[in-house]
Amino acid sequence: MKILYFDELSSTNDFLKQEYKNYQDKTVIIAKKQTNGRGRLTRTWVSQDDLTFSILFKNEKKILYHMIAPLSIVYTLKKYNVEAWIKWPNDIYIDNKKVSGVLIENITDTNIKFCDIVGIGINFIEKEIENTTYLNKYGIFDKEDFLKYLLELFEMLLNLEDKDILDLYKIHSLLLGKRIKHDNEIFLIEDVTFNGELVLKNNHMTINLKVNEIDIKTSIIPDN
Ligand code: BTN
Repeated sequence: MKILYFDELSSTNDFLKQEYKNYQDKTVIIAKKQTNGRGRLTRTWVSQDDLTFSILFKNEKKILYHMIAPLSIVYTLKKYNVEAWIKWPNDIYIDNKKVSGVLIENITDTNIKFCDIVGIGINFIEKEIENTTYLNKYGIFDKEDFLKYLLELFEMLLNLEDKDILDLYKIHSLLLGKRIKHDNEIFLIEDVTFNGELVLKNNHMTINLKVNEIDIKTSIIPDN
């Protein structure tokens, strides 16, 4: 992967959204500082001295980036003996606190079959944000080394079959097997599909839940 460093960008995802035509497949854009980092669901991504980057992909076929990206982070953390989990759809948690988030955006361009921007933010230093954690706490300080391992693992995961990627995603899923309250019904989270939907089951029905279908009344029921 070709890596390009910038001191400051509004957002590495936004940069690639504008400039994707000028860069080749697997270009990595890293910004030391983002002035307008974005998260999913119109959230902001606050970072300073953390790791924030986006990877541009131009492909002929659909790839499961929404699973590969979080898995690359989980497996990088394993190298440091830190156990991490994927909280649906693709947040990374350590000790039940969020350490990293992924923002995947698709570009529509008639000349490129699948053009995707995979944005990754990883907390290295402490944040004033509730329920978050950071890698310095786990003795991980070197962002360069971390990125190097992560990109190597990303490349490895790109070579796997979709079914193997899905299996690995399920093994590291924080929510699979938990109970969830949705539409005033209690369900068991029984499975995850290739496109990242949760399969919810109870005695009356089985439904597939897309990320954009959850609302404020949807909640995970804690284990006792
Ligand atoms: C989330 O948790 O909601 C996703 C956070 C994604 C943040 C990364 S930082 C690099 C890239 N550029 C952005 O503006 N966002 C992503």
